[in-house]
Amino acid sequence: MKFFATLLSLALVLSGTAEAHSHVNRHYRRVGPSATFSKPSAPTTTAAPPPKPTSTGTTIKRGVSYNQAQLTENFSGSKVSWAYNWASAPGGELPKDLEFIPMLWGGGDNSNWVNDATAAIASGSTHLLGMNEPDLGAQSNLSPAAAAALWKQFMEPFAGKAKLCSPAITNGAAPMGEAWLDDFLSACDGCTIDCIAFHIYDSATNVAYFKNYITDIGTKYGKPTWMTEFGASGSTQDQQTFLNEMLPFLDNLTTVERYAYFMAGQDILVDNSGNLLPLGQTYNTAS
Ligand SMILES: *[C@@H]1O[C@H](CO)[C@@H](O)[C@H](O)[C@H]1NC(C)=O
Ligand SMILES: *[C@@H]1O[C@H](CO)[C@@H](O)[C@H](O)[C@H]1NC(C)=O
Repeated sequence: MKFFATLLSLALVLSGTAEAHSHVNRHYRRVGPSATFSKPSAPTTTAAPPPKPTSTGTTIKRGVSYNQAQLTENFSGSKVSWAYNWASAPGGELPKDLEFIPMLWGGGDNSNWVNDATAAIASGSTHLLGMNEPDLGAQSNLSPAAAAALWKQFMEPFAGKAKLCSPAITNGAAPMGEAWLDDFLSACDGCTIDCIAFHIYDSATNVAYFKNYITDIGTKYGKPTWMTEFGASGSTQDQQTFLNEMLPFLDNLTTVERYAYFMAGQDILVDNSGNLLPLGQTYNTAS
């Protein structure tokens, strides 16, 4: 998809504004207020019960992202093993066979991070996720240097206690995406980066682009990859076809350690009551 990337870059050069920058890279799914993840407000001390203990070392790669824990209730089959909510604590009870994975979303108030991450690890969380789309103005919006400083303060102390996944980059054109990640990896000297996290959005009919991008990022960084968001635009039928093609591909590609289709909410995988929609049924059961 070099052609598309070139067009994006050209648009950036022509417009020359930071606003245009985040605008052109906003993906189909991310348009509109409900699709933009602001950092959840810090949970109160009485908020969420701790995640239930889960088994470690799952070989099931498939997971779900959510904002409301109850919407994960119907994902508890043999094909989905983990969940995350862009936050440090689960914010409710998850099905007992879903492993909760905490995320250090970005800058701001991280006063609960150490306690939440420690509790999650004690309950069986095997990994911690770094910042969410730091290369996107509408998301955690961090320079590589700022992200490295946050990493050293909040992530690095957990090295060896859990596997640490890099900030999750978008598939935007440079200086976003891999260019941002390369700068971060240079800036974060002495940092323990066990896995590479990334997101990718494109048309459901563009399976070849997804496959190439996902394969290339695994090869380039030589570490297990976590595709913590991916999304395909198009009709439900197009997305069904997409998932039926992509799920076996992802399960088979050894560089991919975990992945999560966007998302358990917004009438994508489940409706507002948590009922599995057709895409969710595919996601919950497809081999
Ligand atoms: C699984 O991986 C093998 C080896 O890379 C490849 O030949 C095969 O086509 C893959 N199958 C799927 C479903 O992607
Ligand atoms: C799970 O699905 C069932 C049936 O599809 C539904 O009745 C139930 O409400 C769903 N769970 C939640 C939490 O909504």
